[in-house]
Amino acid sequence: MSNIINPFYFGNEVYGDDFCNRVVEIQELKNDVASGQNLLLYAPRRFGKTSLLKKLKQDLQSDDEYKIIYVDLFSISNIDEFIQKYFNLMVNSFETRSSKVIELFKTILKIRPNINMTFDSVGEVSYSLSISKKEQTQTLEDVLNLPFIYAKKFNKKAVVIFDEFQEIEQLEFEKKLRSVIQTHSREVSYIFSGSKKSILTQIFNDKSRAFYKSVKYFNINEILLEDWTAFIKLKFDNTNKNIDIKYIEQIYNITNGFPYYMQQIMSVVWDSTLKLVNDDIVVKSLRLIIEREYDLYSLIWTQLTPNQKNSLKYIITCDGKSLYSNDNLNQSGLSATTLKSTLEALIKKDICDKKNDKYYLIDPFMKYWLENL
Ligand SMILES: Nc1ncnc2c1ncn2[C@@H]1O[C@H](COP(=O)(O)OP(=O)(O)O)[C@@H](O)[C@H]1O
Ligand SMILES: [Mg+2]
Repeated sequence: MSNIINPFYFGNEVYGDDFCNRVVEIQELKNDVASGQNLLLYAPRRFGKTSLLKKLKQDLQSDDEYKIIYVDLFSISNIDEFIQKYFNLMVNSFETRSSKVIELFKTILKIRPNINMTFDSVGEVSYSLSISKKEQTQTLEDVLNLPFIYAKKFNKKAVVIFDEFQEIEQLEFEKKLRSVIQTHSREVSYIFSGSKKSILTQIFNDKSRAFYKSVKYFNINEILLEDWTAFIKLKFDNTNKNIDIKYIEQIYNITNGFPYYMQQIMSVVWDSTLKLVNDDIVVKSLRLIIEREYDLYSLIWTQLTPNQKNSLKYIITCDGKSLYSNDNLNQSGLSATTLKSTLEALIKKDICDKKNDKYYLIDPFMKYWLENL
């Protein structure tokens, strides 16, 4: 075999040649941040949120009017850690010369805590603030205000991206964050992104919560068939292999264009192809992925109640439509009340969702797995 590497990638964020389309979304995001809008970007796991946000960051960085700070809340487990990380991100994205940075921040941080610099083995500098317990709240507030102060001072627009924002629930400064950033007006645009719809809905839709109705909902959809076709064809072409569009369509019909699965299946198909994709290769690739994902799906499956399992199968049989019609219900053996509470539970577990009166499994490959069980 040749030593050409597989042109498809699935896992973490993608960029450059691995990033397909999202042209409309990027443009809309740019318009929104230009007007200082705060946004909530929800999509399931592995849907391409981080890739999209990093692309936005990269695009905006080339524009001198913007400063972009990307924060992943996933790895942060307490307020102190957040303060340190946020401060570092801020410093590193604002200025290049460290002495200048420290001067700058010393003048704008109200309580002027000690700022320590450390260099790692490759000479990368990192900063830490010494904070006493008593000063924690004030330091948090100061650090949260940095993008705003910076934006005003240098007449720029700041964009702060909080990825995996649902983690804010664990961090216990949701109220503080909201009360500080609401004074930032149009100078700073905040993008909150996450994959746990039930938690995010509570944060942004519950009247008693600080972030209640404070954002514009930003939708991202699956990537369209025509965009995948061009993307996939090119990757096969560039590696001297060939795929007929009928196979791309066939795989698209299974994944609905869900980015992770498109790339995962294509990666396996590419691996199994010497020159030309054929029926047999596609069938075998799909079977292989079902086997690979078996443990994951069966774990989810065994944790469901019998009613939940029946309801999921029921959604698939009815194609998600008219679930409450008497004919359908009679056949399923589920009562309307049971179905209602079961669907609510499944939505809460982020297993299914509803769009335009149609229910569907959030993970398209789980549906395929169930159909082939
Ligand atoms: N725009 C895109 N073009 C091609 N593949 C994508 C794109 N966005 C996401 N993917 C695929 O999905 C995977 C997960 O992307 P990621 O951005 O980490 O998703 P999320 O942050 O929503 O979990 C990537 O490894 C890649 O395979
Ligand atoms: Mg992500």
